[in-house]
Amino acid sequence: MGRLAETNDGPRFPFQFVGMAALDLRTAAVPETLTKLAYRTMQQGKSLIGLAHKEATSRLMGLLAPEGVPRTEPLPDGVLNSLRQSMDRLTEQDWREAEQGLYPTSLLFDAPWLDWATRYPLLWLDLPQTWLRRQERNVRDLPSTVNSEAYPDYYLQNFHHQTDGYLSDHSAALYDLGVEILFNGTADPMRRRILRPLRRGLEAFATRPASALRVLDVAAATGRTLRQLRGALPQAQLVGLDLSSAYLRQANRWLSQLPGELPQLVQGNAEAMPFADGCFQAVTCVFLFHELPAEARQNVINEAFRLLEPGGVVVLADSVQLQDSPEFKVVMDNFRSIFHEPYYRDYLSDSIETRLSRAGFAAIAAESHFMTRIWSARKPA
Ligand SMILES: C[S@@+](CC[C@H](N)C(=O)[O-])C[C@H]1O[C@@H](n2cnc3c(N)ncnc32)[C@H](O)[C@@H]1O
Repeated sequence: MGRLAETNDGPRFPFQFVGMAALDLRTAAVPETLTKLAYRTMQQGKSLIGLAHKEATSRLMGLLAPEGVPRTEPLPDGVLNSLRQSMDRLTEQDWREAEQGLYPTSLLFDAPWLDWATRYPLLWLDLPQTWLRRQERNVRDLPSTVNSEAYPDYYLQNFHHQTDGYLSDHSAALYDLGVEILFNGTADPMRRRILRPLRRGLEAFATRPASALRVLDVAAATGRTLRQLRGALPQAQLVGLDLSSAYLRQANRWLSQLPGELPQLVQGNAEAMPFADGCFQAVTCVFLFHELPAEARQNVINEAFRLLEPGGVVVLADSVQLQDSPEFKVVMDNFRSIFHEPYYRDYLSDSIETRLSRAGFAAIAAESHFMTRIWSARKPA
């Protein structure tokens, strides 16, 4: 991986600070096996917690707010098996790519556990409001202080029925934990699938110092993708953009605990970003497109093209779609029934490849990992 690989020298064993300073764990085979086991066990634990939480909350809703219970299809056995296998492959690949040095193994264990544990009761306390909004089909229940002229109309909604939409510190405090539970602990492993195509794309700039590379993460939210980017590119200049200042405030709190340069956080609309043409070598965007109307999706892709230096790479991640993962149609349908996702149906059959090519991108590639589709493309040099 050229010069970029040299910079990725983070610790590869998450517990090495526990009285083991003298042992070089990077070369020790046994700890590596143990680390892998620890990682797999943690993922299985997260998956069980996610499933248990969903089971418990849906039972409670059935008791307390039965009118609001969403109508979902049961998953056929075959689909459940495919999901399990696909999730196992994701975990395996996540481990393998860490082992190959794409990012440090410690990143696999990186989460604000204590923080999430203290916030977990808030998720429960928030449930009754969420149920009420769902029951009343109230999707415009936002804080009265929000200046609605400052945002596009499609944004002013309670996505996922969440309290305050994306527009409060309360919502920002619960977002990551909610996503972690929604995906049964696979959110970061899915986000990390952008790292291989990203690093491959950045090889076009291999003669430059790693610290001269500028990477923009669009829809950075609370900074989880920026954390993965920092792990893979410890010296690059990272910039995150999002429309929500509350989410960026939360991102700032979490990202400022990381060693190294603090990513720059900018509030703005991804359809018209406040940056000069050609000033980034890479643009990433994770889990945004399914929340945008079709025209906005194209605008964001056009903006990514404008902001990239010729030869630069764009990497997008979002839900799998009907064409690439027809076996998961029932999962996609259920997601739409449970959460307020007004643009998801349109997204599911939207050709992102066509949009990338329309914007001028070349070398368009796509791959699926569990419930996430990754697209990468290059701005012609
Ligand atoms: C589902 S979240 C995904 C966030 C993050 N990338 C992740 O991996 O969790 C969508 C994010 O997109 C932001 N967003 C939605 N529309 C936007 C727009 N037009 N411009 C910038 N950010 C936007 C929201 O504020 C929210 O933080």
